Amino acid sequence: MTFPKTRLRRLRYNPILRELVRDTQISVDDLIYPMFVCPGENIRNEISSMPGQYQLSIDNFISECKNVISKGVKSILIFGIPENKDETGEIACQENSIVQKAIKEIRRQKLNLLVIADVCNCEYTKHGHCGTIIDGDVDNDLTIKTLASQAVSLAKAGADIIAPSDMMDGRVAEIRNSLDKSGFIKIPILSYAVKYASAFYGPFRDAAESAPKDFDRKSYQMDFANSREAFREVEQDLNEGADMIMVKPALSYLDIIYKIKEHTNVPVIAYSVSGEYSMIKAASQNNWIKEMDIVMEIITSIKRAGADIIITYHALDIADRLNNK
Ligand code: PBG
Repeated sequence: MTFPKTRLRRLRYNPILRELVRDTQISVDDLIYPMFVCPGENIRNEISSMPGQYQLSIDNFISECKNVISKGVKSILIFGIPENKDETGEIACQENSIVQKAIKEIRRQKLNLLVIADVCNCEYTKHGHCGTIIDGDVDNDLTIKTLASQAVSLAKAGADIIAPSDMMDGRVAEIRNSLDKSGFIKIPILSYAVKYASAFYGPFRDAAESAPKDFDRKSYQMDFANSREAFREVEQDLNEGADMIMVKPALSYLDIIYKIKEHTNVPVIAYSVSGEYSMIKAASQNNWIKEMDIVMEIITSIKRAGADIIITYHALDIADRLNNK
C-alpha cells in the first residue's frame, strides 16, 4: 500500500499512541552512575571539566550514595583517587586503599547498591599508565598480575562486580583464576572488552588524575578506526570468562554497539564517557542546546543501538526526568 492509503503520520498525532508504539524505553534500571572517591574529610571538589561531578571523600561519598538510592538508581561504578601513587599500582591492592575503604563503608552501612569496582592501575601509578612500565612499554604479563591482586582485594572489600578497564591481553582469565582461588566464584566480571584509545576520556583524566605521561595509550587501547577487531576482543574476553562486556565510548561508537549486540548473547554495556558528558554540559551552559532533551535523545540512541545497560554521568538527572521531577 502506498500514499494516500498509507499515512505514516497516523501513528504520530496522539502522544499516548506515540508512547505505545515506541520501541526503545529507558528506565532507571538500565543506568549505572560513575563516582570518584578521594581521601580526606568533608571534601567535595567539583571537577572543572565535568560540571556537576565531584571528587568526594568517603563521608560525602556515602551521603551521595544515599542520594543516588533516593533517585532510584541502584548501581554505581567507583573510581579512586589515592593519597600516594607508585610505579605498579600495588598501592591499590591494600585493605585500606581508597576504593576498598569506600566499599567497606557502603557495606557497613548496608546501603542497597550494586557496587561495580573499576580495576585499573592508571589512577594509582606515577606515570599514569594502566600497568607496569618496562623498557618504555606497559608490560602485559606483569600488569595482569597486579590487576588480579587489585581485583581480589576489591572483592574482599565487598565489591559486587569486578570491571577491568586496562585493555591488557589475558587479564580476564588472570582475574577469574585469582577470584576463584580466593573463593569469589560468585563475583561476575564486567570486561571493558571494546575500549578505544579515545580523546573523549580527557575530562575523566582530570577527574581521576590519571593522565598518562611520556606516551599515549595507543599500544593497549583500540584504534578507533577499527571495527572487526572488536569481535576479537569480545571473543577473547568471553573465552576467558567475562560475564558481561562493555563498549566504550558510546556516542561515536553506536555502530560497534550494534554489531557487538548482534554478535553476542551476553549483556552489552555502553559507557557514555566523560567527554560526551562535558560537551553537553558546555553547550548547555551556553544555552546552545536543551540539556535534558539532548541527554534523553543520546541515551535513547545508545540503547536503540543495542546497549542493555548504560554507564552515564547523567544518570541522576535522567532519573529525575523519568520520575517527572
Ligand atoms: C581507566 C579508565 C578510563 C576511563 C574509565 N576507566 C580512562 C582511560 O582509559 O584513560 C574513562 C572514563 C571516562 O572518560 O568517563 N583506565
